[in-house]
This record gives sequence, structure tokens and C-alpha cells, in this order.
Amino acid sequence: MARLKKIRKAILPVGGLGTRFLPATKTMPKEMMPILDKPLIHYAVEEAIKSGIEEFIFITGRGKTAIVDYFDRSYELNETLLKKNKLDELNLVNELVLLPGKMSFIRQQEPLGLGHAVWCARNFIGNEAFAVILADDLIFSDTPCLQQLIEVYNEAPGNIVAIMDILKDQTGKYGILDTNKREKGKIVDAYGMVEKPSPEKAPSTLAVIGRYILDASIFDFLSKEEKDSTGEIQLTSAIDAMAKDVPLKGVRFLGDRYDCGDKAGFLEATIRVALQHPEIAEKARDIIKQAQEIKV
Ligand code: UTP
Repeated sequence: MARLKKIRKAILPVGGLGTRFLPATKTMPKEMMPILDKPLIHYAVEEAIKSGIEEFIFITGRGKTAIVDYFDRSYELNETLLKKNKLDELNLVNELVLLPGKMSFIRQQEPLGLGHAVWCARNFIGNEAFAVILADDLIFSDTPCLQQLIEVYNEAPGNIVAIMDILKDQTGKYGILDTNKREKGKIVDAYGMVEKPSPEKAPSTLAVIGRYILDASIFDFLSKEEKDSTGEIQLTSAIDAMAKDVPLKGVRFLGDRYDCGDKAGFLEATIRVALQHPEIAEKARDIIKQAQEIKV
């Protein structure tokens, strides 16, 4: 296991096909879909910065160049906004343009799964523990979810995953923590993880959400992983295999999580942001009231 060091690097896998949002994702990366006025990936990077992350490694794929451009300086737009004296807007578009060298983009040539996406970053991580953030899990919280995980890691290094309690009939949609601990505390020690088990086979009802702190030895485990029945290399099974060597903990984070890779979750997140948005909160309330009268 790598020595305890500050968590400085985050991997942001954005190479998936986003099939649940076709046809929109035919030409637009899922992670660029806006929750009102900010794309999902913006929220993810914001959360990482607030959690102390200094280096960002994006795993991109075909059709994902809009993400690369989003984090670059746009000279034409900057010039135009400056000429029109739109200084607030100018600040907004440059908010997440980091110093050169702080963001790297690696092409995952084929979307072979989340485990494969993470493995693609192996030469950029070296021998230090790192974070993984899935932008489609959007989390609103007072303390950023990733920071909550980092705080646990700093007390007891190992693999740390964000978890939430789910209903038993939902286990087939998530990676599930393998633990026999029934306590309701914040930190749960685990033996491993199981990918999308049926309710009968699920070892618990603790679902793993898209925030991870991983030891660098995960890359050795990922190298040995075989493709599963869907042709993907799973992160879950590498974390599970590793649990014998590296302690695995789940953290019941404080916050509200929205699955924005799914249509209903995306809509719910949009409504929440609209209802809290200083410019349109009032209007949003009216729209929602009126919507209840729409005949369906
Ligand atoms: P999902 O499981 O949501 O898959 O990926 P997806 O392809 O994006 O979406 P659907 O299920 O087809 O609608 C979770 C995260 O992992 C990334 C995705 O971009 C997303 O951020 N990912 C997934 C990769 O980077 N590479 C992959 O091969 C698969």
C-alpha cells in the first residue's frame, strides 16, 4: 500500500457512451449535459477543487472533445465578452480554466468499462492514492462528498468508497458493499464489493456511489481483471479482489445525490437547482405548479 500522502490527483472517467441519453449523446458527451446552466462535469470539477484536488486526469473517448474545450481558454468568446463589457460572464467562462499542466486528457480508445477507464490513467498517477469522481453522480452537500471521503482516508488509509442505503429491490442497479456490519454509523468496514447483485444475492443494501479514494496498487489488480459477461472491465471486481490486502471502508456521506446518468435523476436534479437558483427560483415554482395542470 502506498505511503499516506495528501490526495492530490483525481481521475474523471468521461469515456462512456451514455446510451441512456441517446439520441442526445450521439454528438454531445453525457457529462456536458447541463443541469440548468452548468454541465455535469463542471459540478464534478468544482467539488474536486473544493476537496483540495490539484491535478485532474480525464479519461475521454470518441466524441468527447467538447469536454477538452470546456476547460480551455476560449479566446474569441473572451474577446467578445470583454468588448461588450460582460465581465460577470467573462468570469464565469474562465472559472475552471486551471494552470497549464493541471489537467490531462487520456483517450480510452474503446469504452471497455469503468475499470478499464481508471486503468488508462496508471502512468499519470504513480505510487500515490488518488480520487475517482463520476460526474453523473451529482451530490449537493455542505462539505463536498469527496472531502468527506478524504477526511476518512486521512485517519485510516485504504480504499474508501461513498455509500448510501438503498431499498433491497434496488441492489441490481449498483455496486453493493459486502459487509455483515449492520451498524448505522458513518464508516462501514467491508470485505469487498459485488457488482449489481440480485436482491436475493446482495450482501447488504449499501450502494456504492461515484466517489472513490483508491490505493495505487489498484492498477495491478485492474491489469489482471478479465472482461465480464458484458465485455467490460469492472472497477468493482478489482476493488473486491484488493480488499484482502488493502482495507476497504464505505462512508455514508452527508448530502443529496442525484443519478444524472438516468432521465428521472437528471430531471430531479434540474428541478432542485432551478428551485434554488437566484435568477429563476420564483419562476421555477410557478412553472412546476402550472405543470401539474398539464393533461397527460
Ligand atoms: P455508466 O455506467 O453510466 O455508463 O458510466 P455510460 O456509458 O456513461 O452510460 P450508459 O449506461 O450507457 O447510459 C459511469 C461513468 O464511467 C464512465 C462514464 O463516462 C461515466 O462517467 N465510463 C464508463 C468510462 O469513462 N469508460 C467506460 O468504458 C465506461
